[in-house]
Amino acid sequence: MKRMKRTFALGLGLTLVWLMPAVALANTGDPVAAKDKISMCMGCHSIPNYKTAFPATYNVPKIGGQHAAYIVKALQAYKSGDRKHPSMRAVAATLSEQDMADVAAYYSNTAPAAPAAKK
Ligand code: HEC
Repeated sequence: MKRMKRTFALGLGLTLVWLMPAVALANTGDPVAAKDKISMCMGCHSIPNYKTAFPATYNVPKIGGQHAAYIVKALQAYKSGDRKHPSMRAVAATLSEQDMADVAAYYSNTAPAAPAAKK
């Protein structure tokens, strides 16, 4: 039941993002403001030039091209402790709601990274 509610909330969120211009949302993400905030994400989620920094050795999910609503949800879950990964929890703990909206706006507008070469 909890899962269904969550799925519904996420679906609704995505629908709102899809239907409305971002202006209509309370927490509008600003991809430009995100530029100062993503420096700490890059070492792990290395999006520039569509390359991963450690393709074979470090299993970091690609977030470039991901839906903004999903990114915000994930960051909130790390911050609240619903998601347990220690480094992401530490990172998310430093982010305000606005920071999350900004980085989500930034990453949702970048292309997904090219698939990492398999060893
Ligand atoms: C120390 C390395 C590291 C840093 C720095 C880091 N991340 Fe992560 N991130 C990870 C790892 C590893 C995971 C996968 C964790 C897991 O399995 O839950 C992850 C997961 C995520 C996810 C969930 C992806 C998904 O598909 O569910 C999001 C969103 C995310 N990170 C965003 C960010 C943002 C935004 C920043 C910068 C503010 C950041 N991360 C900084 C390593 C990092």
